[in-house]
Amino acid sequence: MTMPASPRPLTQRAAWKALAAHHGEVRGLHLRTLFAEDPDRGERLTLTAGDLFLDYSKHRLTDRTLQLLLRLAEESELGARIQAMFRGDRINATEGRSVLHVALRAPKGSTLRVDGEDVVPEVQTVLEKMATFSKQVRSGQWKGHTGKPIRNVVNLGIGGSDLGPVMAFEALKHYSDRHLDFRFVSNLDGSDFLEATRDLDPAETLFIVASKTFSTLETMTNAQTARDWLIRGLGGEALAVARHFVAVSTNSEKVSSFGIDPANMFGFWDWVGGRYSMGSAIGLSTMLAIGPDHFRSLLGGFHRMDEHFRTAPFAKNMPVLMGLLAIWNTNFLGAETLAVLPYEQYLKRFPAYLQQLTMESNGKRVTLEGQPVDYQTGPVYWGEPGTNGQHSFYQLIHQGTRLIPCDFIAFDHPLVPLGRHHDLLLANVFAQAKALAFGKTAEEVRTEGTPEPLVPHRVFEGNRPSSVLMAGRLTPEVLGQLIALYEHSVFTQGAIWNIDSFDQWGVELGKALAQAIVPELESDPDPRLDHDSSTNHLIRRYRRSKRGL
Ligand code: F6P
Repeated sequence: MTMPASPRPLTQRAAWKALAAHHGEVRGLHLRTLFAEDPDRGERLTLTAGDLFLDYSKHRLTDRTLQLLLRLAEESELGARIQAMFRGDRINATEGRSVLHVALRAPKGSTLRVDGEDVVPEVQTVLEKMATFSKQVRSGQWKGHTGKPIRNVVNLGIGGSDLGPVMAFEALKHYSDRHLDFRFVSNLDGSDFLEATRDLDPAETLFIVASKTFSTLETMTNAQTARDWLIRGLGGEALAVARHFVAVSTNSEKVSSFGIDPANMFGFWDWVGGRYSMGSAIGLSTMLAIGPDHFRSLLGGFHRMDEHFRTAPFAKNMPVLMGLLAIWNTNFLGAETLAVLPYEQYLKRFPAYLQQLTMESNGKRVTLEGQPVDYQTGPVYWGEPGTNGQHSFYQLIHQGTRLIPCDFIAFDHPLVPLGRHHDLLLANVFAQAKALAFGKTAEEVRTEGTPEPLVPHRVFEGNRPSSVLMAGRLTPEVLGQLIALYEHSVFTQGAIWNIDSFDQWGVELGKALAQAIVPELESDPDPRLDHDSSTNHLIRRYRRSKRGL
């Protein structure tokens, strides 16, 4: 296992100690005061990177805070870690792998090496194969077993092999070919498959089995069910599989033993983590939906942010700054979660996508050296599109007892203008960020003539931090930049916490236990159960109920 040399333990770094002391000095400061004392704050604490604009002025920090956070990034050797990633070093230390999703979006002709071998040409070859296939399907040239063109595409995958594709499909629906119908099946619960396929004609349906390992229980179970459904629907013709199944995987052996022709397999590589894979062949459904040119623009957007992250000085580096804001809010202000609130309905699956990206990456409790951390790591990311959330959970963000930093995401232009909708939508973004920051004092509430007993209920304490992230409009290129921004912010946080942001051992235990329990649920004679009393009882109860007892 290759382990990069680590800097001094986090809580012993000079900048960390200085931040802890500084927090003591500024903890009582209110955003009202910070803004009153610095009339230009709202313009000054902003940053543009590519097509993205970030207003971070409504975070509870001073210039000194920023200075110390930037120093912390230096002391954490963030620069060296960024270079190590782009150099193809095996920075995923516990799995001994390089982390090179940036190579997926590197332009043709550029060079990125893994073990001395330039991987960009193979990436380009797969992209070209995807483009050829997409054009055939989109034009109707690719025919199903009975000679009918494909009308429905069903992606079978889970985690990174589902969330990226479904998020991108929803986000870029405006650019998609509406003649094709897209469905995404991820859950082991059979109702997911049943609902997704109940109105589909097998003769017009293409399944993409998307699985890096091609061994994930959910995906392989759904793929088997899909195979049976297809063969049954096409009169028992097993040969039909060839025209209706393609695979996206790193595991060609398993793909062929499933019965998918390797010619219909789109490969990728072990240096692409599942949650970082939507720019690889895992994005095949995205390319089928929006076409190869838009897909290239999406990759172009990713690359633009990759380059910004690689080259911009930390003080002007948007992902670094966002990562540092998360460190400040998590480790010093004590925030436990971060709400992602897109004011763009097309981004409705973006928070779910970010949950895997952020929480599978930074949900770690030991350092790269295997020592337990003595500080908090990855916050809980969650969210829903605005304005819907305003009528649901925003109450707690405004007046609850917890500090919940928010990322508001909005666009200057709607994809399709409709009456006053967009002005009303944007007014709400600006109003929410303002209300969270400045609140409403008891005096202000009284001035409105509120009866005294109601005053405490109507006070808004304010001082709730938020970022406002904006771009012109939601294009494929902007989406690429937005995702890469969060990816690199996650990287920044992980580098400072000195954890492995690229493994996910935490998902293993439950998987192994489930494998052991399956035969205990399925066996005919009552099995001997050696679990704890709760698990034994749950299994016995389920077995009884299943038999109608
Ligand atoms: O169980 C977690 C995980 O390994 C994710 O990291 C991954 O994105 C997902 O499962 C799916 O894995 P695969 O693409 O190999 O089916």
